[in-house]
Amino acid sequence: MAGIIVETSERAILDLSWIRSQFPALAREINGRPVAFLDGPGGTQVPQRMIDAIAGYLRANNANTGGAYSTSRDTDAMIAGGRRAMADLLGCDPDEVVFGPNMTSLTFAMSRAIGRELKAGDEILLTHLDHDANISPWRTLEENGVRVRFVDIREHDCTLDLEDLARKINNRTKVVAVGYASNAVGTIHDVEEIIRLAHDAGAMAYIDAVHYAPHGHIDVRKLNCDFLVCSTYKFFGPHMGVLYGRREHLTRLEPYKVRANTNAVPQRWEWGTLNHEAIAGITGAIDYLAELGTRSVRDEPGSAPAARRNDTTGASRREAIQLAYRAIRLHERELSRQMLRGLAEIPGLRLYGISDAARVESRCPTFAVRIARHTPLELATKLGEQGIFTWDGNYYAINLTERLGVENDGGFLRIGFVHYNTEDEVDRVLEALEAAA
Ligand SMILES: Cc1ncc(COP(=O)(O)O)c(C=O)c1O
Repeated sequence: MAGIIVETSERAILDLSWIRSQFPALAREINGRPVAFLDGPGGTQVPQRMIDAIAGYLRANNANTGGAYSTSRDTDAMIAGGRRAMADLLGCDPDEVVFGPNMTSLTFAMSRAIGRELKAGDEILLTHLDHDANISPWRTLEENGVRVRFVDIREHDCTLDLEDLARKINNRTKVVAVGYASNAVGTIHDVEEIIRLAHDAGAMAYIDAVHYAPHGHIDVRKLNCDFLVCSTYKFFGPHMGVLYGRREHLTRLEPYKVRANTNAVPQRWEWGTLNHEAIAGITGAIDYLAELGTRSVRDEPGSAPAARRNDTTGASRREAIQLAYRAIRLHERELSRQMLRGLAEIPGLRLYGISDAARVESRCPTFAVRIARHTPLELATKLGEQGIFTWDGNYYAINLTERLGVENDGGFLRIGFVHYNTEDEVDRVLEALEAAA
């Protein structure tokens, strides 16, 4: 690992040895070498406190909700705590947080409910850069005569063509569903502008923040989106999905639900028994992020990380989370620059997406590549044997792999970094790719 404390030019400090010590899986070895987990976009590793939160709940409070006894009441309180934690992460009120099994199921549920308000001829605008979980649930509404249109991409850097988007929004558009960032090529979209364009046309904006959430701070009020979905297993938590819905929508729209579900918001959107232990884990994951924030340092010259001062910043959890993401972004930007420099040196390698190191602000550290004469599966297998875990294929970003002509040819090799990854791991994967090429 290159140094214990990562200090960037903007003086955000990430204590990588503390961070890595929080994630037990990072100690794993294969053939005598530590595993480099570069598979974060498929699901990140988890900190010990999130594991402890799940085990602690199951050990002490395992019960169903709404009972007249202590473990059941504690379960109700724990779920309310999970909602507060997610509200702190997203910048909303706890009753605007809906828990579900995953983002895909939540999006199907919401598209069905929104579909009840739509009529033939209404339009939904999607993009070719999105994960299929933000495409197929909306396409089911075509059965009712709803027209689905697609925003095209700029092929050279895999960014969204916002002029095409502006052209395709009109007064028939009822929903604009778009990703915050691409899980395949890493592009971060200008969702604030897209939401503004949607609202100008009278449409609702549905944001898939699954890929963005481990990399960037989310503020649903500032974004002014109508809905935003994410999956906690992508940001150091358990396998679950979370939906933010503006209260007026969660109240007005009619979910399909069982009679025993009251009309209370947000419970009318949560059917059956939730994954209680996972909700306990969500609070654990968010508290980890908040602690990371208190351990990172603010901008002030001469200030030391809070952990070294042996105190905390005294910030609220939301502020601490914001500090965490700031440090995460700065660290990840350095990894991106290093990666882009290295990838450019490898003969026969093609990177899909933003390749200009001056534009790292507009991308996550998620890299889709192909190397001449090797399938992505061959490359992922070779890397896996060396303890470098990556992914191959389309990762359900099927419109994109089809649009770029790689769907029938193995898709891409995806190398994804998160904040617990190191400069040494970037070097390691670059060396392995070079050897393969
Ligand atoms: C960008 C994006 N959206 C949606 C999903 C689907 O999330 P879930 O597995 O929670 O349904 C994924 C999963 O990989 C994703 O990367």
